[in-house]
Amino acid sequence: MNRPVLEGLRLNTPAYVRHTRLVEWVAQIAALTEAREVYWCDGSTAEYDRLCAQLVAAGTFKKLNPELRPNSYLACSSPSDVARVEDRTFICSEKKEDAGPTNNWMAPAEMRELLQTGDNALIRGSMRGRTMYVVPFSMGPLGSPIAHIGIELSDSPYVVVNMKIMTRMGKAVLDVLGEDGEFVPCVHTVGAPLEAGQKDVAWPCNTTKYIVHYPETHEIWSYGSGYGGNALLGKKCFALRIASTMGRDQGWLAEHMLVLGVTSPEGKKHHVAAAFPSACGKTNFAMLIPPAGLGGWKVTTIGDDIAWIKPSADGKLRAINPEAGYFGVAPGTNVKTNFNCMASLKRDVIFTNVAMTDAGDVWWEGMTDTPPAHLIDWQGKDWTPAIAKETGAKAAHPNARFTVAATNNPALDPEWDNPAGVTIDAFIFGGRRSTTVPLVTEARNWVEGVYMAATMGSETTAAAAGQQGVVRRDPFAMLPFIGYNMSDYFQHWLDVGKKLESSGAKVPKIYCVNWFRKGADGKFVWPGYGENMRVLKWMIERVEGKGEGAENVFGVTPNYSDITWTGLDFTPEQFEQVTSIDNGAWQTELGLHTELFQQLAYHLPQELTETKAKIEGRLGT
Ligand code: OXD
Ligand code: MN
Repeated sequence: MNRPVLEGLRLNTPAYVRHTRLVEWVAQIAALTEAREVYWCDGSTAEYDRLCAQLVAAGTFKKLNPELRPNSYLACSSPSDVARVEDRTFICSEKKEDAGPTNNWMAPAEMRELLQTGDNALIRGSMRGRTMYVVPFSMGPLGSPIAHIGIELSDSPYVVVNMKIMTRMGKAVLDVLGEDGEFVPCVHTVGAPLEAGQKDVAWPCNTTKYIVHYPETHEIWSYGSGYGGNALLGKKCFALRIASTMGRDQGWLAEHMLVLGVTSPEGKKHHVAAAFPSACGKTNFAMLIPPAGLGGWKVTTIGDDIAWIKPSADGKLRAINPEAGYFGVAPGTNVKTNFNCMASLKRDVIFTNVAMTDAGDVWWEGMTDTPPAHLIDWQGKDWTPAIAKETGAKAAHPNARFTVAATNNPALDPEWDNPAGVTIDAFIFGGRRSTTVPLVTEARNWVEGVYMAATMGSETTAAAAGQQGVVRRDPFAMLPFIGYNMSDYFQHWLDVGKKLESSGAKVPKIYCVNWFRKGADGKFVWPGYGENMRVLKWMIERVEGKGEGAENVFGVTPNYSDITWTGLDFTPEQFEQVTSIDNGAWQTELGLHTELFQQLAYHLPQELTETKAKIEGRLGT
């Protein structure tokens, strides 16, 4: 094979690389970005250790005390690069209406000029003085019919080591790809070229940021950020935005969903996929420990953030977790809120933007009831409880993260890596709502469930830059992640449902939940966390055709007596507080659904407006 040598640049292509198109593309991007050298990642532990040592030497990583937190590191980012940048995220479809009103759009030719082809194109020369890493990764078990492959070219070794944890990464992926396999090309640069003699900074990035998707050609280009979903391109960019368009075209679903296994005391197992907006406790739900009083239920994790779901030959929906690790929000995580997560984080972790203790361990708000007397905060400053009281300074950034392999999770489902996936029995949709939305409602049918998911609202969190705590509509928890027109996506869900129904297979039930209702004192009424198992148990009983419930205007909801309360002191009055339907609040809420439907009017499925009219009729509006 022709192994191009660019002027002064060796592509260093290993002999095992047999994919001509890939090699040509790597050469082309190396030339465009003027990378100093190219390095092909093999995905080995030796490579991971070497890169981590390099990151320590560069000041990006601090090695944590190996006695307290073996094989673990802390990275602190630039304060200007701490979350996904939704206002800088673009879907560049040929037609604007194909991106839809919920996405930023720019014509592909215009975006290409800005990033790649124009005289001052941002990506041109953007890797000068840096190594360009070639990161082959599989989203999903290697070779699974539900999985797909991507190749990320990145000038960030931080990205490489995170991708090693978050995906199946390295040489084995190229073996599956062979000579001409399909891959999603992903270009990532921190946008901070190093001129001759220029000293690097610990967290290079650029104040200008572009996170760009070309849905028609399945390409991802990311410029200017080194953080999370902006930079680990397998996650939100590929596994949600590009994959959702692949799913639309190929008849499957790419969803912002955790997947869990739930086993009854009798040993019967079901699988549930659940969508919640960012930082609403998905990792906690995926790792839930059922209360002992419930008599031996067990929850096991398949995935904590994303599900790829394909209809199988028998008409069932089979799901995989395309990821291999968890990139979870650290603040608020502790042994009470998520014991299994804390156990997962005992070793082999990359922490980002948490605080460091004097002993060389990590700490974040909510990790312990009493904070340590002294810390170095995520911005490298001294932090004490007194300083925090006076200035409000947080020790950890509210969107601080951990990156850890799924295999560290003590509650990992034995099927998590099964290439055939698991059968989905129920979908759950949940938002963070302090009022209005009841604890749990079962849709009477698929269309009603799609309506519930389409009109979901949630109070915003720190996972994305911007104002926090305001309610925004977040259909299917996909608002920042859908790669095409939201109304077409609703239609796709309706179509998938129709196909399932016509296949004669048992169609998964759909539920809407809200763990976050607050009382007059401003405190959460529902205890949440492990106690959510009580709601899950009711759902599973319903799936089995056993559980009781009562019909309301939206669907079916449990009576107080339909939930098992053993071991929990939760009164009928409290239950009423989390399940009551306030007619006035719902009139306002439906007004907001109307606004959403007006915004999404282009291609909005008629079945959804009809469902809304039925609810209005039942509410008497
Ligand atoms: C995430 C997010 O990081 O949803 O999972 O923001
Ligand atoms: Mn997420």
